[in-house]
Amino acid sequence: TSFRVRSRWPVMVRNLRGRVGSKVEAVVMGEAVASEDEDLILPNHEFAQHAHVPSFEKYLEMYKRSIEDPAGFWSDMASEFYWKEKWGPHVYSENLDITKGNINIEWFKGGITNICYNCLDKNIESGHGEKIALHWEGNEPGLDDSLTYNQLLDRVCQLANYLKENGVKKGDAVIIYLPMLMELPIAMLACARIGAVHSVVFAGFSAESLEQRIIDCKPKLVLTCNAVKRGKKVINLKDIVDAALLGSSQNGVSVGVCLTYANELAMKKEDTKWQKERDVWWQDVVPKHATKCDVEWVDAEDPLFLLYTSGSTGKPKGVLHTTGGYMIYTAATFKYAFDYKPSDVYWCTADCGWITGHSYVSYGPLLNGATVVLYEGVPNYPDPGRCWDIVDKYKVTIFYTAPTLVRSLMRDGNEYVTRYSRKSLRVLGSVGEPINPSAWRWFYNVVGDSRCPISDTWWQTETGGFMITPLPGAWPQKPGSATFPFFGVQPVIVDEKGKELEGECSGYLCVKNSWPGAFRTLYGDHERYETTYFSAFPGYYFSGDGCSRDKDGYHWLTGRVDDVINVSGHRIGTAEVESALVLHPQCAEAAVVGVEHEIKGQSIYAFVTPVEGVEYSEDFRKSLVLSVRTQIGAFAAPDKIHWAPGLPKTRSGKIMRRILRKIASRQLDELGDTSTLADPQVVDQLIDLADT
Ligand code: WTA
Repeated sequence: TSFRVRSRWPVMVRNLRGRVGSKVEAVVMGEAVASEDEDLILPNHEFAQHAHVPSFEKYLEMYKRSIEDPAGFWSDMASEFYWKEKWGPHVYSENLDITKGNINIEWFKGGITNICYNCLDKNIESGHGEKIALHWEGNEPGLDDSLTYNQLLDRVCQLANYLKENGVKKGDAVIIYLPMLMELPIAMLACARIGAVHSVVFAGFSAESLEQRIIDCKPKLVLTCNAVKRGKKVINLKDIVDAALLGSSQNGVSVGVCLTYANELAMKKEDTKWQKERDVWWQDVVPKHATKCDVEWVDAEDPLFLLYTSGSTGKPKGVLHTTGGYMIYTAATFKYAFDYKPSDVYWCTADCGWITGHSYVSYGPLLNGATVVLYEGVPNYPDPGRCWDIVDKYKVTIFYTAPTLVRSLMRDGNEYVTRYSRKSLRVLGSVGEPINPSAWRWFYNVVGDSRCPISDTWWQTETGGFMITPLPGAWPQKPGSATFPFFGVQPVIVDEKGKELEGECSGYLCVKNSWPGAFRTLYGDHERYETTYFSAFPGYYFSGDGCSRDKDGYHWLTGRVDDVINVSGHRIGTAEVESALVLHPQCAEAAVVGVEHEIKGQSIYAFVTPVEGVEYSEDFRKSLVLSVRTQIGAFAAPDKIHWAPGLPKTRSGKIMRRILRKIASRQLDELGDTSTLADPQVVDQLIDLADT
């Protein structure tokens, strides 16, 4: 591979120097300087001195090597882990150009390893067995628990042995439908230990969604718990699982065992509905098993997990990640983007049901031997100070969350923050959607006392780990910018014809060349993988996001350009919501768009055409919302149902979403040309009905 030093790198360094004069250098020299430049937050000298990557020059040097010599760079990273057998002569092979044949990505093929071994046994063997691996904080303040690395390994082995006894073998799928109990990462690690492929389904998905996933991956077992408390609400998970398993068996997929953890604080065992021939209480069987369980050694390219995510069309896609590359990539990104040190206490507020919880609650941190805080509840229960209470309680040093939470806490007022010390904090992180500059500043100034760099990490379920992210300490930050690519990542911005844009520009965000954490396929549908991600702009992986690059080379993500919306950092396909709506017997047609929302980033706005003769009523509206809640989950419920006697369509019948987006956001003077519509009057009707 040839390395073209893209002109913007040196330009960026020069511009930064020019713009802030000698300030960056002064900071590097350890002098205190105030930035008068509103949009530039200078690195902190104290921090940079001890950072893994202390300067932009050092980053450039490492970045250049990662692009010029990916095999050497990633082999060095991989060598920090245990491999039973080293990978073959070709560290990686890739083809991202659909016009040249099938898309095929492999990293460390032939290498034999196990990610659970590297998370647990390896850390224990190097003397950290008594270090806390997990601090668990319950929904109710005062309720907590913890596990050392030794104890975590024991628990993982017991469950792994139970799974094996029940016939789970290498390559078998296991569905995990659990809330944020310690059993959730334990279950993931137990599957990984025996080479089983876990598929965690966020415990906020409905029975229908769970059923769909069960039918798709045909698990040997389902792991769940009876109920969970979120804030004041009790959620009966077992009922949801029962309904999903009934549905899947009617569709020919029967699951033999439903291993159910008794979460008696939320619901008593005797109140739980039970099917004797299928259901087993976790606590009755798992603790009886041996605390030693041999590792199943797997190839680097053997599958590790499936995670279903939303796309712009059709049903959710099973994103498949394999073992070796994912392991190295999550470990390295965690270490560098959070400047992780062994003395850190790390807390990520994401649920393990999403990719963030896979890569940066479980695998990335544990591979680094970190102490991880796991929180069961909601972040504003019993009051909006809960996060900082938890930060102080565990002396959290790295805090990673989503802009939606930052915005909602910001609205609740500074007093909830400042009443806590927070002095343990040293790095903050953001993920899930673009963080707007005002939220960024509040996070930086109020939560972090203007002391902690913010890693605004851009990435996706598909990418496995961070793609564009600040390396704290290394360079000046701009509020709202995810800054520069991680090692080995070559982001490119292309125009609609797929031409790479240089310098200051704006367009579609793609990635050139593969990186170890990239997903390898969509489960059972490699063709969809190729067409969805690699055919829009041949030669590149297309992310689905828009992005601009400023004169200093900083990247600014601008949101999805496809029909995917991001509600509170949760990814939802408009097509999924539409199909949930049209399942309602009185709904003839539906079109869903995202609109800007102060707290959630985006909210769901649905245009609904009722069947002939059905009138608008509040009950109808409620039952439409309910339809989405039961088909997908509460988090996908539309905020607004807009009555639509008709939808704006072209003469060929295509819905013009552009117009619907403008109506939804009340940008009525920007509707553009409506003359190509089959019936332009529809638009006026919609405007008239906007506020009913
Ligand atoms: C969005 C979550 C801007 C983006 C890790 C992406 C972001 C989608 C950021 C993936 C960020 C995530 N800045 N946008 N820092 N992080 N996104 O698969 O639109 O749930 O395509 O992965 O979230 O969502 P997913």
